[in-house]
Amino acid sequence: MGAERQHFELDAERVEAILAAGRGRAGSGEVSSIVARARDGEGLSCEEAATLWFSEIDHEALYHAARASLARRAVALETFSPLYMTNTCDAECRMCGMRRDNDALVRKTAPLEQVEGQLQTLKKRGMNAVALLTGEYRAERRGWAIDFVNQALRRTEQLDFGHVLINIGSLDPDELDALLDGISRHADGSIAPKITMCTFQETYSRDYYGRFMGQSDDNPRADYDRRLANFDRARDAGMRVANPGVLIGLNPDIAFEMTALILHTRHLLEAGMEVYLSVPRLRQTAGGLSPRGASDEEFIRLVSLLALAVPDGKLVLTTREPKEIQQKLVPICTVLSAGSASVTPYTEDGAQFPLETSQFEVIDQRPFEDILAEYAADGSEIVNFASPRSPA
Ligand code: SAH
Ligand code: TRP
Ligand code: SF4
Repeated sequence: MGAERQHFELDAERVEAILAAGRGRAGSGEVSSIVARARDGEGLSCEEAATLWFSEIDHEALYHAARASLARRAVALETFSPLYMTNTCDAECRMCGMRRDNDALVRKTAPLEQVEGQLQTLKKRGMNAVALLTGEYRAERRGWAIDFVNQALRRTEQLDFGHVLINIGSLDPDELDALLDGISRHADGSIAPKITMCTFQETYSRDYYGRFMGQSDDNPRADYDRRLANFDRARDAGMRVANPGVLIGLNPDIAFEMTALILHTRHLLEAGMEVYLSVPRLRQTAGGLSPRGASDEEFIRLVSLLALAVPDGKLVLTTREPKEIQQKLVPICTVLSAGSASVTPYTEDGAQFPLETSQFEVIDQRPFEDILAEYAADGSEIVNFASPRSPA
């Protein structure tokens, strides 16, 4: 499986130094030449991205630069739908509806047959990519959860899904082997089907991480370093696609998060991984306070700068965002993911979105066929989606 590489570590002092340098250059005459180079699709150093973040250039100008840089290369729109297999969890992330101490959530775990039925329903509706989701568990339930997801993963290979994303928290090496047991591999040991490890750091600030994800030793989700190195362990186990992310609305210092996310992405690209990037905005949960996340302006600024800074990264947008923001940002993203955050929610032609069984509120609840049709209208194909619905 290749030589062991150095696992990622974040040097927060280095991030602060990058931000200080960026702040210093933000008022200088260099700004327009940095934008011009980024518009040409050359990418940005972390310091340049920070410079633009702090500069006077408004989010609209950065957005148009990102569109111009994207127009230079052909980027097909990809999609996938989330499939929550259970909404149980042994962790206690403050912002999440599935946290174990949330009495407002009605717990549900689907029998495996129902998960299989949902995979078939998605396939029948033309959806060829799926994210499998569970909570993260303490010692007693970890084996159960990994076996449950392994069974579903095997089924996705039999059904020939084009892309499967795994959102089940971070895993140790023996657990990764159990997760991937029975999945086809290439001669070099790497996993044959496209399977992406998704573990958003949520925040790269140790301080904010502790405030939201907790501190106790028996809560595996509270271990910042274990989470941070999860993609490197996944790579050692044969996985070749990573999806890091930041949950926007935890740490108000978005420039810090942007810089750390770019550093993490560069590390994974250098390790030969394909990288998807997620920057979900915080949403309402059952039994939760109304979140105050980033403004639309800040969010557009962030997504535009990520598109400019890491042209090799694939930005993921979800239906957490309303239709208007999706329409604006799809041209500078690679993926639009639509579906429900409730357990096994799909029907023949739509999905259920009850907040009392959902991880969080999904804003755009239209069937994914309707959402994706807006982007397929000009006849362009959507990767991993082919609606059998007859065109209207
Ligand atoms: N239990 C797994 C899977 C989490 S689901 C894990 O924690 O890794 C994927 C993501 O949903 C989380 O990583 C987090 O970024 C996001 N999320 C959690 N609470 C949210 C909320 N209230 N609003 C929007 N997204 C949320
Ligand atoms: N939280 C997961 C993610 O952001 C699951 C997800 C993907 C999702 N797309 C979604 C949840 C759309 C609701 C709606 O990757
Ligand atoms: Fe559990 Fe994941 Fe929610 Fe944390 S974010 S409480 S680990 S489901």
